[in-house]
Amino acid sequence: MLKLTSIYTSYGHVKALKGINIEVNKGEIVCLIGNNGAGKTTTLLTISGIIKPDSGDIIFEGESLKNLAPHNIVNKGICHVPEGRRIFPRLTVLENLEMGAYQKFKVQSSKFKEKLDAVFSLFPILKERAKQMGGTLSGGEQQMLAIGRALMADPKLLLLDEPSLGLAPIMVSKIFKTIREINEEGVTILLVEQNAKAALRLSHRGYVLENGIIKLHGNGEDLLYNEDVKNAYLGE
Ligand SMILES: Nc1ncnc2c1ncn2[C@@H]1O[C@H](COP(=O)(O)OP(=O)(O)OP(=O)(O)O)[C@@H](O)[C@H]1O
Ligand SMILES: [Mg+2]
Repeated sequence: MLKLTSIYTSYGHVKALKGINIEVNKGEIVCLIGNNGAGKTTTLLTISGIIKPDSGDIIFEGESLKNLAPHNIVNKGICHVPEGRRIFPRLTVLENLEMGAYQKFKVQSSKFKEKLDAVFSLFPILKERAKQMGGTLSGGEQQMLAIGRALMADPKLLLLDEPSLGLAPIMVSKIFKTIREINEEGVTILLVEQNAKAALRLSHRGYVLENGIIKLHGNGEDLLYNEDVKNAYLGE
């Protein structure tokens, strides 16, 4: 479905990605783990077209994304839930969800209604809080809103950047459970996480990124029991 080949991305003279290859197949949950500064966020920003790579290619469903603007990439079916959530604090929950859909469906359309119902059934709390300002939600609720907003655009591939960051343990398990549900409903997922153990348990496959280079990749189970991964990322 998605294939990154030999991607190099830099910020001025800082080389963040140094020739990475990643593949995501339709229906999978794939995770990208690695320490701070490894290049995880940069990888997602490069896929969604927010940063352009210096070289290499990104193929999504047989077509190169390299020369597309971010909104065209959304229209192809790739939605990005950014690090730190970035919901609109001064818009209501419902307005935030409308913003997620606006490029694709009119608010009056039946498709909009269908997507909204799906998001509300995944996250009932968002329905209860529909008229409340986004900025007044708790951290966990804001993460749900950020995911819900991305789902409103009906993605084929969802990019999630550290969805569990800063959340209480109970909220972390709720978010991970929801990611599985979203995947079971047919959305392919590329997940970036510092919470490597939980991410590997959830994922079909994983990649370990170190200093802009893919160090290891394999199925979730194998990486979970890999000695190097255990020592470096699982705190064992
Ligand atoms: N806007 C920027 N300008 C310059 N350098 C940047 C910028 N954003 C990121 N970098 C650098 O690029 C490298 C990769 O950063 P990136 O944000 O992709 O890491 P990450 O794996 O997501 O880390 P974290 O786990 O801390 O979120 C780091 O060395 C970082 O300092
Ligand atoms: Mg990051």
